Amino acid sequence: MLHLMIFHWILLFLSCFAFLTHQACNQFDQQSLLSFQLYIPSSSLNWPSSGDCCLWEGITCDASGNVTRLWLPSKGLNGTISPSIGNLTHLSHLNLSHNRLFGPPPITSFSTLIQLQILDLSYNRLTGEFPSTLLSNHIELVNLSSNRFHGLIPSSYFQQAGNLMSFNVSNNSFTGPIPSSAWIDSSCSVRLLDLSYNDFSGQVPPGLGNCSKLTSFRAGFNNLSGPLPDDIYTATSLEEISLPANSLSGTIGNDIVHLENLTVLELYSNKFTGMIPIDIGRLTMLKLLLLHINNLSGSLPPSMKNCTNLTTLILRVNVFEGDLSAFNFSTLSKLKTLDLGNNNFTGILPSSLYSCKSLTAVRLGSNRLEGQISPDIAALGSLSFLSLAGNNFTNLTGAIRSLMGLKNLSTLILAENFKNEAMTDDEHITFSSDGFQNLQVLGLGDCQLYGQLPAWLGNLRELRVLDLQLNQISGSIPGSLLNLPSLFYLGLSDNFISGEVPKELSGLQALVSAEIFDEVDRSYLELPLFGPTPKEQYNQLSNIPPAIYLGNNRLGGSIPAEIGNLKLLHVLVLSGNNLSGNIPDEMSHLVNLEILDLSGNHLSGEIPVSLKGLSFLSSFSVADNNLQGPIPSGGQFDTFPPSSFEGNPGLCGAIVQKLSCLNDPPTTDGLSPMPISESSNKELGYGLIAGAVFGLIIGITGGALYPFPKLKFMQHSRYNRRR
Ligand SMILES: *[C@@H]1O[C@H](CO)[C@@H](O)[C@H](O)[C@H]1NC(C)=O
Ligand SMILES: *[C@@H]1O[C@H](CO)[C@@H](O)[C@H](O)[C@H]1NC(C)=O
Ligand SMILES: *[C@@H]1O[C@H](CO)[C@@H](O)[C@H](O)[C@H]1NC(C)=O
Ligand SMILES: *[C@@H]1O[C@H](CO)[C@@H](O)[C@H](O)[C@H]1NC(C)=O
Ligand SMILES: *[C@@H]1O[C@H](CO)[C@@H](O)[C@H](O)[C@H]1NC(C)=O
Ligand SMILES: *[C@@H]1O[C@H](CO)[C@@H](O)[C@H](O)[C@H]1NC(C)=O
Ligand SMILES: *[C@@H]1O[C@H](CO)[C@@H](O)[C@H](O)[C@H]1NC(C)=O
Ligand SMILES: *[C@@H]1O[C@H](CO)[C@@H](O)[C@H](O)[C@H]1NC(C)=O
Ligand SMILES: *[C@@H]1O[C@H](CO)[C@@H](O)[C@H](O)[C@H]1NC(C)=O
Ligand SMILES: *[C@@H]1O[C@H](CO)[C@@H](O)[C@H](O)[C@H]1NC(C)=O
Ligand SMILES: *[C@@H]1O[C@H](CO)[C@@H](O)[C@H](O)[C@H]1NC(C)=O
Ligand SMILES: *[C@@H]1O[C@H](CO)[C@@H](O)[C@H](O)[C@H]1NC(C)=O
Repeated sequence: MLHLMIFHWILLFLSCFAFLTHQACNQFDQQSLLSFQLYIPSSSLNWPSSGDCCLWEGITCDASGNVTRLWLPSKGLNGTISPSIGNLTHLSHLNLSHNRLFGPPPITSFSTLIQLQILDLSYNRLTGEFPSTLLSNHIELVNLSSNRFHGLIPSSYFQQAGNLMSFNVSNNSFTGPIPSSAWIDSSCSVRLLDLSYNDFSGQVPPGLGNCSKLTSFRAGFNNLSGPLPDDIYTATSLEEISLPANSLSGTIGNDIVHLENLTVLELYSNKFTGMIPIDIGRLTMLKLLLLHINNLSGSLPPSMKNCTNLTTLILRVNVFEGDLSAFNFSTLSKLKTLDLGNNNFTGILPSSLYSCKSLTAVRLGSNRLEGQISPDIAALGSLSFLSLAGNNFTNLTGAIRSLMGLKNLSTLILAENFKNEAMTDDEHITFSSDGFQNLQVLGLGDCQLYGQLPAWLGNLRELRVLDLQLNQISGSIPGSLLNLPSLFYLGLSDNFISGEVPKELSGLQALVSAEIFDEVDRSYLELPLFGPTPKEQYNQLSNIPPAIYLGNNRLGGSIPAEIGNLKLLHVLVLSGNNLSGNIPDEMSHLVNLEILDLSGNHLSGEIPVSLKGLSFLSSFSVADNNLQGPIPSGGQFDTFPPSSFEGNPGLCGAIVQKLSCLNDPPTTDGLSPMPISESSNKELGYGLIAGAVFGLIIGITGGALYPFPKLKFMQHSRYNRRR
């Protein structure tokens, strides 16, 4: 750092002679710039390129050579902001966004920047409290977003900032009440307020009605509570109200329809009650209406058909009700995403929906819909995501025939419908070569379907995720299914599947070859997929854990050694079958395994010591088998509870409080006593039901999609059903 500065001084010294005839920049400003204690990577900024700082990159001077703009975004600047910035008293524009600045900004120096109009310090690592010494009367824009500021924002700040138009402090750790004097004043000039992703608490203060120019108000992802202030509905320039993921309550007032330019209304993940405003149809500019995860009730107001600019309508997880087919969707021709899941809607699938030709994603899951899926659904040629799970639809064969023609369909979730029907296996579907040609996810769990695994499944060349758990499917696993090149999630638990665990499982290339698995689409799904527990929400296919669920079936024989080829597998469940023989040593090749459940079989021999090498294994059970010998110790084995091993009289080790195996009589009958429970525990069931969600806050357009937390798989309890 020091020699860098010395270098600067020498250059300055030389430039005094070399450029005497030029209109050089103000010497004080130049010295200030040169004493910036920043490390500037040479490749990203050619500075200083000459002695006249007005000619340097990112610097603008006025006629007399005073520096007025410092515009250095994305230059890799690493360091603290130098106090000498306060010497640039003519500075009006300062943009240092997207650098690596850290530490608190020089609060006292800021007080001399009385000409400052634009301040953008976003996307750095700045800390400390709000720099309320920025007292310029001229300040128009403050962007401190995506830093690490904390503390209160003093309301008094705004009394000096009479020209403030944009105030963006999103994505920091500010606390306390929303600073409101910005708008208490009737001369409120603010157009844009972004307070989202902080820890602001308390109510949204009244006064917004004074801000006749306010277009965008964002304060989502805070701890705000209480109702919306009534006068928000008089800020008639508002185009965007975005307050998701707070604890706001009360109703959405019908006066909201006065906001004639409202384009975005995001109030999801709050505690709003009451109905959708009856005259919402007057909001003809509305594009995004995101009200999911609240306690809203009533039916869809008929006037909503006049919101013809709507592209995204998400109302899932509320208590809406009424006959869905009574609402006329046909005017919503721009609608792309419709999510009405987890409500109490009744009736049949509305035929008016088939006119919404722009639809790409539809979820109507977990309602009380019934009837058949009409062949008219084939009109939705752009549809890529469809979840109808958890309703009372009938005629699976008809549904599959109607849907297979949808060329863009990539996710189809029909779980928990079609109760007790036959698994569709008609020739029309089997021999139609172009049906479901882009289907990647098929969910048909918990339908109590009977029959065999149909041949047409083997034609779905793009299939990655197949979930048929909790049905009554019998017969063996056909080889064609095990040739699907991209399949990485096979859910067949809780059926009547017989035969052996097929050696051909190692034909599932996506579980064998990282290159093939890496081809799994990493783009976001149009709507998230939900697993059976609230934690399981998948926004990308590639977040779904590679898994084979074959538990609670009638599989016999031994576990094939070839299973060791499935190196990318994270979950393997073979519990509750009739498997015998040894646990193959090759299982230790499954180095990514997190869950391994072999409980409730007739496995014998010792637990291979090599399994100690499975360093990600967090849930393991071999309970209720006929295993013998010492339980391996070390590695993850020191973390498993005794219940992982119980029901194997021949096992010994500290964990089962039996230190020696030598004196034990060998078990002879090969059968261990096991509890028999006929009740099926749904929590362990099918993986992808697009079902219940409680309090999930990630929406598809909630601004930034925050990275998904690393998946924590649910603890697998032991098998629960045997036949
Ligand atoms: C430039 O700065 C000097 C010193 O602060 C000042 O005297 C002069 O008036 C400034 N020029 C302009 C155009 O503001
Ligand atoms: C600062 O620069 C970045 C990068 O060019 C730009 O995106 C941003 O809009 C600028 N800030 C302002 C307030 O103009
Ligand atoms: C910033 O510079 C310091 C030394 O001046 C260095 O240790 C650090 O790694 C740099 N940080 C980045 C992100 O480049
Ligand atoms: C610039 O500011 C620093 C720190 O505030 C001060 O010590 C220094 O004297 C100033 N330099 C000039 C040239 O005004
Ligand atoms: C900072 O926020 C302002 C106002 O919202 C915006 O104009 C500017 O582009 C933002 N800066 C960056 C780097 O996004
Ligand atoms: C605030 O700034 C962030 C990034 O700097 C930007 O993503 C966001 O859109 C801005 N908010 C508004 C309302 O412009
Ligand atoms: C709505 O937007 C239009 C077009 O931008 C504008 O002319 C009109 O004044 C706005 N209405 C209100 C109430 O601000
Ligand atoms: C839809 O929005 C556009 C502007 O995006 C507007 O001009 C048009 O009037 C709106 N449609 C209706 C029916 O109001
Ligand atoms: C929809 O808009 C039309 C034309 O503006 C109007 O006549 C009709 O009453 C509106 N319908 C509803 C249900 O509000
Ligand atoms: C759904 O509607 C039924 C019948 O109207 C009612 O009994 C039930 O409580 C409702 N469920 C919810 C979650 O509102
Ligand atoms: C589903 O429909 C059948 C027949 O229409 C009816 O008997 C049954 O109660 C319905 N089930 C549910 C959960 O609504
Ligand atoms: C099921 O749907 C198919 C195709 O739409 C139709 O031909 C058949 O009659 C339906 N079956 C029943 C029982 O309604």
